[in-house]
Amino acid sequence: MTLLVSGGAGFIGTNFILEWTANSDEAVVNLDKLTYAGNLGNLRSIANNKQHTFVQGDIADPQVVRSLLAKHRPRALLNFAAETHVDRSIHGPGDFIDTNIVGTYTLLAAALEYWQSLDESGQTEFRFINVSTDEVFGSLADDADPCDEDAPYAPNSPYSASKASADHLVRSYFHTYGLPVITTNCTNNYGPYQFPEKLIPLMIVNAVARKALPIYGDGKNIRDWLYVTDHCSALRRVLTDGRPGEVYNVAGNCEVTNLEVVGAICAVLDELLPDSGGSPRQELIEFVPDRPGHDRRYALSTNKIEAKLGWRPTESFATGIRKTVEWYLAHRDWLDEVMSGRYRQWIDRNYTDRA
Ligand code: NAD
Ligand code: DAU
Repeated sequence: MTLLVSGGAGFIGTNFILEWTANSDEAVVNLDKLTYAGNLGNLRSIANNKQHTFVQGDIADPQVVRSLLAKHRPRALLNFAAETHVDRSIHGPGDFIDTNIVGTYTLLAAALEYWQSLDESGQTEFRFINVSTDEVFGSLADDADPCDEDAPYAPNSPYSASKASADHLVRSYFHTYGLPVITTNCTNNYGPYQFPEKLIPLMIVNAVARKALPIYGDGKNIRDWLYVTDHCSALRRVLTDGRPGEVYNVAGNCEVTNLEVVGAICAVLDELLPDSGGSPRQELIEFVPDRPGHDRRYALSTNKIEAKLGWRPTESFATGIRKTVEWYLAHRDWLDEVMSGRYRQWIDRNYTDRA
């Protein structure tokens, strides 16, 4: 038995594979292009574990995907591979179209060909898991109910539009061809191994260095935050018991403003790193010009996954953010590795231009 995981050297894929190899004997084949966001060093602890096979390649390359399916004959494909940063999608949408839309199509086409070659029990067992986002539903009013799985799509950034396109393609492969697909739409993840371009690790890195903490707009945008291992446990539940053709929301039921998130990080850091004479880190907050098309609020209802699959998050924001800050403080070597020249170029491009 084998899982084919794409994008397994990124943030969520890494957490998924590390937990999977620690808790199951099943083999994992990990197809990752190793873009700026992918880091094989994340998987160093399983480098000699034969259960994990790493293949550097592009999900948009049909030959690579077809040959991996033919060689390893997986019982499921979980796709984490994507371009994921909204700000980068504003600066350059092309990679988002190539990976998130064409890449997902390529995986679907190859998976369908492979699935059609399986015997009846293989076909019944096979799953294609499309890991998607709450951003496809667009921005919610402050007093609106959280979106359920039937909410209309209204993506507002090139990133969310590319993920929405992928979700529609995935849906069509179930309805047209019967491919046993499942889509999960999840809220903002945080935790170990998240690339420090995203809000939480960026703020931790800057606050440790006592650099400015750049808040877009008025900082009152709301996100729902889910600790990454809770997302991984939801995906395992969906893989085991999710129904083909269905969509499941995944969320932390934890809506907070960006200002509250940054305030919580500063409070934990002030406690863990009380530099002598340093003022409270919250004073480092700087309001900077807003992200174009910045969605005000995302929120998802998790009634379906709770009722049908018995999944609930285990981590609260208070416990999750403390663990996250502690992880980054204990992994400064990892940060040094990923904050290379390319990283600094991005920071200059996104923040210097903005100012
Ligand atoms: P990430 O940016 O940390 O990692 C993406 C990974 O995909 C990297 O390892 C990268 O090298 C790889 N990749 C990119 N293009 C590829 C290609 N063409 N072929 C093969 N590999 C490629 O992303 P993440 O935060 O771990 O997100 C994983 C998935 O979860 C994405 O689909 C994202 O849309 C979704 N998601 C993320 C969040 C979040 O808060 N991070 C929330 C909901 C859903
Ligand atoms: O909602 C799920 C999505 O969450 C995922 O699908 C995306 O892949 C992931 O990147 C994330 O998108 P966001 O745009 O919500 O995440 P980000 O960390 O970029 O920003 C979170 C909020 O913080 C958002 O309102 C913008 C704000 N922000 C972000 C940065 C990087 C700032 O105020 N300042 C910043 O410097």
